[in-house]
Amino acid sequence: MFLSVNVLRRCVVKVVAFNGSARKDGNTALLIRRVLQVLEAKGIETELIQLAGEQIRGCNACRTCYSTKNNRCVIDDDNVNAYIQKMIEADGIILGSPVYFSMMTSELKALIDRAFYVARANGDLFKRKAGAAVVAARRAGGIPTFDAINHFFLISQMIVPGSSYWNVGFGGKKGDVQSDEEGMKIMDDLGKNMAWLIKKTKKPKRKR
Ligand SMILES: Cc1cc2nc3c(=O)[nH]c(=O)nc-3n(C[C@H](O)[C@H](O)[C@H](O)COP(=O)(O)O)c2cc1C
Repeated sequence: MFLSVNVLRRCVVKVVAFNGSARKDGNTALLIRRVLQVLEAKGIETELIQLAGEQIRGCNACRTCYSTKNNRCVIDDDNVNAYIQKMIEADGIILGSPVYFSMMTSELKALIDRAFYVARANGDLFKRKAGAAVVAARRAGGIPTFDAINHFFLISQMIVPGSSYWNVGFGGKKGDVQSDEEGMKIMDDLGKNMAWLIKKTKKPKRKR
């Protein structure tokens, strides 16, 4: 049977994850990787992008995306447009952040403001994709950060899979989160539920 490249592309199930930490390969990365491991085991392709070291400007509120409607942000001197494209192509999006003063990092917020504004300007590009937040905290601020990230998924008509608890892992120093057994199990369960959700909702010829 002959399948066109476009049909084959629609059959590939993919999740893209962003780690908003300023610390590469730290606790947030460990938590996200745990979710991705489960997704991979379920046959889902994954990609982890770490924002550490990148300069990402915030939205300048020009609203050019609402007039050009070309799926792009007018600010073109960083990686945000490439990341928007990856989100468009994915079936699921994971946004991970450590807690910085009870909230997500500035880098992740800047990415979200621009990517999700472009998505809205172009007719809700992320509609019905699965969206999951992953948060690392030393002590407090995990829930406000988790809630804030989920707000972006929910206003974008995305579907948010749950887990066996809210998706927060605890650890201060790099690697500490590995000792948070329950946190790691929450990530395993999140991976299972995200895989289930994507497989239930993805149809080869679906129009979003
Ligand atoms: C600027 C800054 C602010 C922080 N604020 C908090 C906080 O409000 N609550 C908390 O529990 N941890 C806070 N932390 C600790 C980190 O959230 C924690 O170490 C986390 O595991 C780091 O994840 P990472 O290794 O992925 O960067 C802060 C760390 C930094 C650098």
